[in-house]
Amino acid sequence: MNKRFYLTTAIDYVNGQPHLGHAYEKIIGDVIARFRRSEGQEVYYLTGLDEHGQKVQQAALAEGKTPQDYCDNLAAAWQAFAQKLELTNDEFVRTTQSRHRRVVQAALSRLHAEGHFYQEKYEGFYSAKEETFLTEKDRRPDGTFDPAFGEVSRLQEENYYFRLKDHQQWLIDYIEAHPEFVVPEYRKNEVLGFLKNNVLEDLCISRPATRLNWGIPLPFDPNYVTYVWFDALTNYISVPAAQNDPGVPGYLSAGGEVPTGLALWPADIHIIGKDILKFHSVYWPIMLKAMGAPLPRQLLVHGWWQKDDQKMSKSTGNVVDPMAVIAEWGVDAFRFYVVRELDIGPDGNWTDAGFKARYNAELANGLGNLVNRSLSMLKRYRQGLVPQRSDELRAEAERIVAETRELLERNRLQSALIIIWSLITKANQYVDHTAPFKLAKDPAQAARLDEVLYNLAETCRLLAIMLWPFLPGTATRIHQQLGLSGEPNSWAAATWGGLPPGQAIGTPAPLFPRKEA
Ligand code: ME8
Ligand code: MG
Repeated sequence: MNKRFYLTTAIDYVNGQPHLGHAYEKIIGDVIARFRRSEGQEVYYLTGLDEHGQKVQQAALAEGKTPQDYCDNLAAAWQAFAQKLELTNDEFVRTTQSRHRRVVQAALSRLHAEGHFYQEKYEGFYSAKEETFLTEKDRRPDGTFDPAFGEVSRLQEENYYFRLKDHQQWLIDYIEAHPEFVVPEYRKNEVLGFLKNNVLEDLCISRPATRLNWGIPLPFDPNYVTYVWFDALTNYISVPAAQNDPGVPGYLSAGGEVPTGLALWPADIHIIGKDILKFHSVYWPIMLKAMGAPLPRQLLVHGWWQKDDQKMSKSTGNVVDPMAVIAEWGVDAFRFYVVRELDIGPDGNWTDAGFKARYNAELANGLGNLVNRSLSMLKRYRQGLVPQRSDELRAEAERIVAETRELLERNRLQSALIIIWSLITKANQYVDHTAPFKLAKDPAQAARLDEVLYNLAETCRLLAIMLWPFLPGTATRIHQQLGLSGEPNSWAAATWGGLPPGQAIGTPAPLFPRKEA
């Protein structure tokens, strides 16, 4: 059984509707998943929802629903959202599923039996909003806590703690020995800085059921539920475990009659936002090491979106509603903008004007215009029949195909789009320079016109293959307008000369209707 390329996103809190940040992360995952499949790799793309914990319990209460009803309703909306984004996820995990609960409890039982946990009374500060205990170190110079923690209260309670101290040094060594573990590099340095300058505090992995009951009960003490982050992180391995993945320690596997055939673990990439880096680079590797499971190969850490240079916030109405943008502009325009505008790493800023500018310049006037005029001229001047092969743009196109592939193998999605667009620009200039509309008026130039039309049509075919991971619908329409069947989803076909002479193209139609700027 071959190990698949296993790629995950963060699982989103189901305490509201999906927003731009959630959509961005899932689109990054989908571009990588589609690209690797088009290279012929077997891929497994997992996304889903984080349904337990105080945030969700409170949101359900506010709507007068049981947490389970509340989650079921929203989960349907989130899955519909994934479809709207045209995600090709293989599974959608929900942490309330029994397959997930079983693995969380099996992991807890093992760690408890092996002495990783101890019980202790704590007295101090607690942020209900962030579901986290605070210490004096979290106070700001003026003595207050950051407003991000919401209302901070004093609390006295007994809980279970996970001993982390013994894990600190090997984790530092591991991250130093595996420079690809945290990408981009400045995020890796941030984690190393934290680990080298702080003594890790033990992690509280329980919450008393009297205070919070919306969670997975501790298997060894029914008075507690599992801390939501221990529960949520485990999703990445609970899905493989439920399929008896040979990469997962046997005691976590479902066993019995469960269908096998999936080799996923260790994950190849966890895609996450910068705010949850500590959970993934410190707690998750330590949990896995204690569980006896191999560590994931990479955390790919993206930045955060703002809108109009302000934090997005429902209360001020400063939000981007992905569904509304998609309804007006189409899903491919949305997918294009988020990946083209924001490289994976830094923070980004959404402006409606910026979105429209890219739509008009790059999609309508760039890609759309190239495909539409190339195929319309082929239709008009050659009755839609592909002429003899010509290699005038071959070297340039093949160079860009190779560079795009190399960039995508390193998850450099924005750079890949930039280089693809350099070919679009080049081909549009080729139309302007060769002026096929003039050649068409001179019968002596018929052979030259054939050459130009072939080069343009073949460039469009290669563009469709390169664009398919990003703009699957548009790429497929280009393919159809070329008279080709199926989806342009194979890099193996991205070699010059694949368009057969004599082939009858389909019907040219605008890909991106121009809109008022
Ligand atoms: O953190 N821009 O869920 P979540 C870009 N359930 N990304 C953003 C963003 C923004 N403005 N806002 C949020 C959780 N995100 C946990 C994860 S994983 C085992 C558990 C990203 O719904 C955020 O960085 O608050 C995270 O990666 C994802 O959306 C889910 O955030
Ligand atoms: Mg969050």
